[in-house]
Amino acid sequence: MPKLEIDGREVTVEDGLNIIQAAERLGVEVPHYCYHPGLSISGNCRMCLVEIEKMPKLQIACNTRVTEGMVVKTTSPKTKAAQAAVLEFLLINHPIDCPVCDQAGECKLQDYYMDYGAYHSRFPLEAKVEKRKVVDLGPQVVLDQERCILCARCTRFLDEVTKTSELGIFARGDHCYIDLFPGKKLDNPYSGNVVDVCPVGALTSKDFRFKARVWYLEKTESICTLCANGCNIDIYHRRGQMYRFRPRYNPDVNQYWMCDEGRLWYKELQRESRILRPLVRGEQDFAGVSWDDALSRLATTLTRAKEEHGAGAIAGIVGAKATNEETYLFSRLLTEQVGTDLVAGLSWSPADVSHDDFLIKADKNPNTRGLQAMGLLNGGTSAVDVLAAAAKGTVKVLLVFAVDLVPTFGPEKLDAALSNAEVIVFDTDYSGTTEYADLVLPIGTAPETEGTFTNYADRVQRVQQAFPPPGDAKPGWEVLSQCGVKFGGTDYLSSAEVFVELANKSPASAGLTYSKLGAYGMQLPAVEQPTEPATAQS
Ligand code: SF4
Ligand code: SF4
Ligand code: FES
Repeated sequence: MPKLEIDGREVTVEDGLNIIQAAERLGVEVPHYCYHPGLSISGNCRMCLVEIEKMPKLQIACNTRVTEGMVVKTTSPKTKAAQAAVLEFLLINHPIDCPVCDQAGECKLQDYYMDYGAYHSRFPLEAKVEKRKVVDLGPQVVLDQERCILCARCTRFLDEVTKTSELGIFARGDHCYIDLFPGKKLDNPYSGNVVDVCPVGALTSKDFRFKARVWYLEKTESICTLCANGCNIDIYHRRGQMYRFRPRYNPDVNQYWMCDEGRLWYKELQRESRILRPLVRGEQDFAGVSWDDALSRLATTLTRAKEEHGAGAIAGIVGAKATNEETYLFSRLLTEQVGTDLVAGLSWSPADVSHDDFLIKADKNPNTRGLQAMGLLNGGTSAVDVLAAAAKGTVKVLLVFAVDLVPTFGPEKLDAALSNAEVIVFDTDYSGTTEYADLVLPIGTAPETEGTFTNYADRVQRVQQAFPPPGDAKPGWEVLSQCGVKFGGTDYLSSAEVFVELANKSPASAGLTYSKLGAYGMQLPAVEQPTEPATAQS
């Protein structure tokens, strides 16, 4: 644990850190371009030069390990002059693109330019080396060679993380440029990460280009829900519309990265198929109703079925896309408040989905392990059992939460099982299952709710509400809480309150709260292994 001094302040840090990392502990930013904590050290940009006592020359902070008694100056006149000179050198051939560049607002070249006040170029504009602009690298990424500062972050990412090496640096001196190796395309499943690592606007996202100025966007910490990995992300949004997902660092889940499919998942979450208000099946079609009417109808339907046929005539299926809080409240509504034991989980993924041994999981549900921890996918009542009971006519009312049954069972089986049952669907979007519904209750997607998911490795992680659900839709926990109230259940004020209650049901998670989960979530001991496969299961 070396103790050192940075800009006159003492700090003790772990062995093995470099000066940039040690300075971060004091809230001091050493300017840098080529250094990225998730990649090897290249030391090529020279922007991080700092003065170190007893060393005759300035040293690069990214490649200098801290030692006991080291005295570092990151703001001395000598350091500042060197950093300004490096910046001026990097800007010599940089185009004046800021007004039209997508990186504006989060560009390190722009930021340091303002910090160092290198306002007047000593280099004539017409002498700038011109390079190719709008170079199509692959399905996700566009390159502007003139904006590139040759930091080699992108090539290191492709060499070290994906090991696909599509990009290289070609030519010599100020004619150097980034390009694809002959015959290659930047089309690996993680290609979008090069846009994140590029410190300037040389690599931009085809999807996000010219869509929004970043300073107008709000950022909310969340989790990608497209597969069981649960990569940590930031949602960038404005007025209820999402513009992009970007990976958020979590050392135990996704480090600094995410896959391209997950990155584009936000589009699926704001499709036109969203259900905007509670719906009741009419003679011809659905008719919109108020929440009061919808909840009264739900209560009447359940009460009547229970009185006429007993609680066993009511059943529920919850999908592994539901949060832990939703799953808990759904299960409680049926087992404790209604009194049936016919509650099943359903975790379905197509059989031919992509997966690898890095981040992408074959289980395309964010919460299979959460449902297993609540005993809903571990060999008890299964969704197959529930539908078999419905086909026999013993289930009169079926509640379906956050899952489309059609891909798993197909229309024929569902026609046979559901033609004589009343079906109540809680979901975000119209689906094959809503075709069977008599009552539809619209709920929010993951970015529209508070809650937790348990990833494939039993890490419980939070999603936070970025904005409210559209139209009259409500977060699922809130809808279920109101359903429970109809049967004497608790009127929960927040999803945090639900989480505390459900966490206390298990010794492994007793005492957990949202704030204890923190930004990285919490690893729980493994629950019993699934008896059902994660793909194409029922
Ligand atoms: S394209 Fe971006 S990440 Fe790649 S070398 Fe150039 S500046 Fe660095
Ligand atoms: S690996 Fe899975 S959780 Fe991570 S970004 Fe991709 S789809 Fe989302
Ligand atoms: S960040 Fe240190 S040389 Fe580039």
